[in-house]
Amino acid sequence: MVGAGGVARRHAAVLASFEDVELVGVTDLIPEAATTLAAEAGTAVHADLAALLDATAPDAVYVCVPPFARGDPERMLIERGIPFFVEKPLGAGVEVAEELGAAIAARGLLTATGYHWRYHDGVQRARELLADAPVRLAVGAWLDKVPPVAWWLHRDRSGGQVVEQATHLLDVMLDLVGDVEHVHAVGARQPRDAFPDADVDDVSAATMRFEGGAVGSLAATSLLPAKHRASLELFADGMRLELSETALVVHDADGATSHDIDPDAAKRRVDRAFVDAVQGHGNDVRAPYEVALRTHRVACAMARSAAAGVSVDVTVPA
Ligand SMILES: NC(=O)c1ccc[n+]([C@@H]2O[C@H](COP(=O)([O-])OP(=O)(O)OC[C@H]3O[C@@H](n4cnc5c(N)ncnc54)[C@H](O)[C@@H]3O)[C@@H](O)[C@H]2O)c1
Repeated sequence: MVGAGGVARRHAAVLASFEDVELVGVTDLIPEAATTLAAEAGTAVHADLAALLDATAPDAVYVCVPPFARGDPERMLIERGIPFFVEKPLGAGVEVAEELGAAIAARGLLTATGYHWRYHDGVQRARELLADAPVRLAVGAWLDKVPPVAWWLHRDRSGGQVVEQATHLLDVMLDLVGDVEHVHAVGARQPRDAFPDADVDDVSAATMRFEGGAVGSLAATSLLPAKHRASLELFADGMRLELSETALVVHDADGATSHDIDPDAAKRRVDRAFVDAVQGHGNDVRAPYEVALRTHRVACAMARSAAAGVSVDVTVPA
């Protein structure tokens, strides 16, 4: 485990619930963070990734460092040919991710990413329902608080809310609607006493056109005291799907049918699918690096569009 913060703790807990997985080591720039997680997980601390790899020869590695710290860990793993799981987003910007994506493809390395919504029961059900009724309009909203990590408030560290958070919704849109070819985004921020150093937008809105002709919008805010919702509405001929972390509601000519969703199931499945693939038991990795990169390109195009005040053609390399 590289990086021993909040999401590393979650993966470590899920991995500990698998009888066939042993967490053999943890490293973090902050030794106390590594020590705390290692104590919780019953594993050892190593000075850095090279030392961890030399000492333990792991079958796979989890990269759970913040977006701005991406690059060096993945390069070392690619060089050594070690399969890895890396958290979303793939970076604070798109350049490092493009470089890593090309290197992973050249090496044919097994990877997985933290886009766990692809394992959400509601997304699977929606995929079936939409097979004969393609989405024409997608409306996403991530309406939340500022997360409790200092790097999040800085554009060059997190990429901003669309890149870091709402990217989960974009990923579901790409999964269920298709690739995005064009975006236009706007964003704004106002000084907030609680976050004097912030330079990320605290409100964002974007429109997009998908390759198949569908259109979509995405709104995001971090102004709230607690998470209000992260949701996606999909409209097809005669049908509306309302997807949130805890439910899928299907509205059609027969009325509304609600399906409750266990929000933690997808977070377990994303780890199980990676472990199975590493062990050679099939491959249900739904967002390997190259798939996640398509989503990340759209999120970064929105950030670029909002910053520069221009529309961005996503099909043209950044
Ligand atoms: N998929 C999800 O649901 C989900 C949820 C939360 C966070 N995340 C993602 O996970 C990543 C980490 O988020 P977090 O909330 O755990 O952040 P965090 O700040 O809690 O933890 C990150 C840790 O990485 C360490 N670190 C930084 N640079 C490092 C380096 N070069 N080598 C080793 N350690 C380093 C930091 O010291 C810190 O302890 C982010 O990209 C975030 O977007 C994903």
